[in-house]
Amino acid sequence: MIVRTVADLRRHVRGWRADGASIGVVPTMGALHDGHLSLARAARRDCDRVITTIFVNPKQFNNPADLLKYPRSEDADAALLATVPVDLIFAPATDEVYPEGFKTTVSVAGVSEPLEGRMRPGHFDGVATVVTKLFGMTMADRGYFGQKDWQQLQVVLRLVRDLNLPVEIIGCETIREADGLAMSSRNLRLTQAGRGKAAVLYRAITAAADDIRAGQSDRMAIREAAETIRAAGFDRVEYIELRDAQTLMPSDDPASPRRMLAAAWLDGVRLIDNIPV
Ligand code: PAJ
Repeated sequence: MIVRTVADLRRHVRGWRADGASIGVVPTMGALHDGHLSLARAARRDCDRVITTIFVNPKQFNNPADLLKYPRSEDADAALLATVPVDLIFAPATDEVYPEGFKTTVSVAGVSEPLEGRMRPGHFDGVATVVTKLFGMTMADRGYFGQKDWQQLQVVLRLVRDLNLPVEIIGCETIREADGLAMSSRNLRLTQAGRGKAAVLYRAITAAADDIRAGQSDRMAIREAAETIRAAGFDRVEYIELRDAQTLMPSDDPASPRRMLAAAWLDGVRLIDNIPV
């Protein structure tokens, strides 16, 4: 069932809540693949009712061209979600989410600022604002997010804690293609040759993480990974960083959980990935 308005959504949700059902929400921007479906399946296992939202959120695109070329495939998305299955798809129009007069921004300082936040100014304000709204609209008990977007997951965790939102956040493992490339709708924009090289990003950061655990210096391991990625034919390595897994601040303390995060350009496509260290 596809629902377009908040009023309609609320009607369904109120009925479910009155029956004592637990509700899980999986926020997406559509163009669904197995990564998204793994979140919906996790929600299906944990919750009585599952809502998937499909909304290409203009506020999180700092580049208007990127927003325009974002793939839209609602019929195919609905068919994939029917295989899970989910109970409801919430796919509102832009002015249903941002009606005239909309003025509020949710901004999470700190964790939003480095890495993706620095490269994409305003991006995480857009994410935090829409995710807060989606929690309010769906009144979900649990929200499912992918570790693929590790920094986004940390922003959402911080936001929920700081605003006392009554939703439990579940971070789900990154789903990868057979060669290790993290699934992403952007992978479809790679040329065939690019697709052949794309998994080098994951392989290089995995090797660096192994070397660091084996005692190599953080900086040497990262430099080697960047060289491997460039040598494979990537256009540019934007960053490879070893950070505190929660705050995303620089961390040279191997005793606390750390995350290696990377962004690189291949075929004019920006790929990101991250792994635990
Ligand atoms: P989108 O890019 O559509 O991703 C929706 C969810 O799917 C995110 O939580 C993302 O981390 C997860 N995901 C994407 N690829 C994945 C993979 N290979 N393995 C596991 N999970 C994966 O992220 C967004 O949309 C938006 O920012 C959103 C949260 C919906 C707010 O607009």
